[in-house]
Amino acid sequence: MEAHASIDEYEHTVADVMYVTNNIPGPGVDSVDFESEYAVGCPCVTDCYNCSCTRGSANYFNARIIDEKLTGPIFECHAYCKCGPNCGNRLVQNGPLNCLIIRETDDKGLGLFTNKLIKKGQFICEYAGEVIGLQEAQRRIEINKQRNAMNYVLVVSEHAGDRVIVTCIDPKYFGNIGRYANHSCDPNSILVPIRVEGIVPRLCLFASRDIESGEEVTFNYAGGAMANSVHCLSDTPCLCGSNNCYHYLPHNQI
Ligand SMILES: C[S@@+](CC[C@H](N)C(=O)[O-])C[C@H]1O[C@@H](n2cnc3c(N)ncnc32)[C@H](O)[C@@H]1O
Ligand SMILES: [Zn+2]
Ligand SMILES: [Zn+2]
Ligand SMILES: [Zn+2]
Repeated sequence: MEAHASIDEYEHTVADVMYVTNNIPGPGVDSVDFESEYAVGCPCVTDCYNCSCTRGSANYFNARIIDEKLTGPIFECHAYCKCGPNCGNRLVQNGPLNCLIIRETDDKGLGLFTNKLIKKGQFICEYAGEVIGLQEAQRRIEINKQRNAMNYVLVVSEHAGDRVIVTCIDPKYFGNIGRYANHSCDPNSILVPIRVEGIVPRLCLFASRDIESGEEVTFNYAGGAMANSVHCLSDTPCLCGSNNCYHYLPHNQI
């Protein structure tokens, strides 16, 4: 389902990568789960501040994420909600910012940059790609390691009561503009899982501070505000250059 066609006119500048604007199902993912849609929406006819979708309080204010919501979970309004396309609880479904550019960095390969000021709390883009199972993610991470190849697999855990929901996304072969975002130990954006049409979350980058025109957009590969403090370090040296650098690229516990 694509209830509200999002506008995303980016393309890849590298060969062998297919541009996808949204997640697609990959190996190890149940296609029924992937396709399942929320069948019931909210009844609001004006705006959605305090309804079944916002779960008591707004997720966004003036199209900026509210700090307390950075830990999720966030549910956006969808096709079965009575509210219209201008409802304030519809943001990431409208697509990425249009000021993003892909550029070669000094030492990290390509990177994601902005050519306009991005204000704290703004939605930047999704980290979209193939949604894969945990075993497949482990397999691909291991292959990348053996081949000394760049790794695009991101594993995100959400803690819901005593349940842990793990989402693995690999935009190496099928991905959107988010695949070029490099890691920093002192990042300017944060990854937030957001559900729009169904149970598989979209991993969405939001500015955690103002990002100046010309700056590189980075996030912490160990996860966003929802990550626990335990993160693992890979064998890949981190070249983020920040004072608090972990020295190796981190990843979520897998
Ligand atoms: C999701 S990709 C990011 C885009 C990538 N730089 C490219 O050229 O397509 C992740 C890979 O970028 C590189 N990378 C990202 N952040 C880095 C950092 N802080 N230091 C060194 N390499 C980094 C690593 O090779 C990592 O496996
Ligand atoms: Zn509502
Ligand atoms: Zn709704
Ligand atoms: Zn670092």
